[in-house]
Amino acid sequence: RQPTDSPLYPLLAAATDFYRQSLKSHPARKAAIDYLKGRGLSGVIARDFALGFAPPGWDNLMKHLGGDALQQKAMIDAGLLIENADSGKRYDRFRDRIMFPIRDSRGRVIAFGGRVLGDDKPKYLNSPETPVFHKGQELYGLYEARQANRDLDEVIVVEGYMDVIALAQQGLRNAVATLGTATSEEHLKRLFRLTPSVLFCFDGDAAGRKAAWRALEATLPSLQDGLRARFLFLPEGEDPDSLVRAEGHEAFLARIQQQAQPLADYLFQQLAEEADPRSLEGKAHLATLAAPLIDKVPGSNLRALMRRHLKELTGLEGETAPAPSATENDSQ
Ligand code: UTP
Ligand code: MN
Ligand code: MN
Ligand code: MN
Ligand code: MN
Repeated sequence: RQPTDSPLYPLLAAATDFYRQSLKSHPARKAAIDYLKGRGLSGVIARDFALGFAPPGWDNLMKHLGGDALQQKAMIDAGLLIENADSGKRYDRFRDRIMFPIRDSRGRVIAFGGRVLGDDKPKYLNSPETPVFHKGQELYGLYEARQANRDLDEVIVVEGYMDVIALAQQGLRNAVATLGTATSEEHLKRLFRLTPSVLFCFDGDAAGRKAAWRALEATLPSLQDGLRARFLFLPEGEDPDSLVRAEGHEAFLARIQQQAQPLADYLFQQLAEEADPRSLEGKAHLATLAAPLIDKVPGSNLRALMRRHLKELTGLEGETAPAPSATENDSQ
């Protein structure tokens, strides 16, 4: 998936050091420190996640790493520098941002996310796809979660960098984020090699609820018997960061314990909103929607139980007689 060796790794490591050092000693660091403190983060968490600061200015990193034309080309390949297509001018991609290094499973930095200190757009700037960074495959925080836990009894999947870090700050060091992309089957396969239980906890907004359903679809093909996935839906307007900071660790755990919804519950509840099983038409529609989803579950016990539940709801077995051929009556 990823080259074992690449000249981009040492460059990304050097950039990480530069951003970390800037957070400690750059003259403009105060705004960054205040920002992190304002979000409730300690020095320990900043260290564990190797947080840094890209100072304001167009060429801080470029000057710091110096180098010849070849080196600068590599910095462009690593996503650290941008080259203007018309003028050929090169400049730092990340400027005046809090830096979140993204590490691979071995702990090597492969990319960054950078957050503005205020309300400018874009809020987060991310490294582009590079030879060492394939955005859709990575999970932010997975390396750190494995470092902090010998066994991962459960992994919490959230949307954002700050959600991972805020949970860690509250002692929940088992969260990972999908980096603004949809949760993929690939993500789930990776996670279930490391843990028997995944808890999805997305933002309490329409996008978060949509992300949850996509996560359900991505999870189905991994659900062997013995594995489980659950969903925790947050109050409107909250995300894991805002909620865990507002109510604290204990209340957040209690919320998980009381409200986390098993995948199959969520699946049937969601489908029943689309197809009301109180009418025959609704039952027919519900069975149509549910059958292909249930068929994706590899765990034969869970699959059988879901089929039985569908039958209880609709009276229909998984298999129904084929429809009369459409072409015979079709006037088109
Ligand atoms: P959110 O908009 O929910 O941001 O995006 P957040 O993580 O809660 O940010 P804070 O709390 O304001 O700092 C969730 C994730 O989507 C990606 C980032 O990975 C972000 O953490 N995202 C979001 C981007 O890549 N770019 C953006 O401009 C916004
Ligand atoms: Mn590759
Ligand atoms: Mn959001
Ligand atoms: Mn959010
Ligand atoms: Mn947030």
